[in-house]
Amino acid sequence: MPNVLELKKYPDKILRVKCKPVKKVDDDIRAVLNDMAFTMRAHNGVGLAATQVGLDKQLIVVDVGGGLISMVNPEIIEKKGEDSVEEGCLSLPEITVKISRAEEIQVKALDETGRDIIIDAKGLLAIAIQHEIDHINGILIIDRVNFIKKHFFKNKLLKNKKTAKST
Ligand code: NI
Repeated sequence: MPNVLELKKYPDKILRVKCKPVKKVDDDIRAVLNDMAFTMRAHNGVGLAATQVGLDKQLIVVDVGGGLISMVNPEIIEKKGEDSVEEGCLSLPEITVKISRAEEIQVKALDETGRDIIIDAKGLLAIAIQHEIDHINGILIIDRVNFIKKHFFKNKLLKNKKTAKST
């Protein structure tokens, strides 16, 4: 049975870690990917990265409605166009941020069996994959906006955190 893992939230330091590549896709990695997918679904997310469950590994899962995609060591090898979408993040639950990203991408990764895969993605899938790859590089949605907005979002997140703790 897969487990729902504990979600790490801003400003947890693990969210700033640039993750190490996975050397071997073994049963342990498959179990983690399973738990990540289970956790993502439990929180109604469309994507989840390893840092969000406290792991320093290049692992992401996404499902924007077309089925689960698990990726090990994902890397964007091609980008095309531009798209701006309001994005949320399970690790920064109080905010949404409008972010400009590539409209279409080609991603290279390993699947859960360790085989090489190439994924061509556009629309919401492309956005979700770019968001999750940002996560395994220690990048959050608040880093994708200008300084003034970033300051505003940071204050909002930290203020909400204090309120939550005191109640
Ligand atoms: Ni996120």
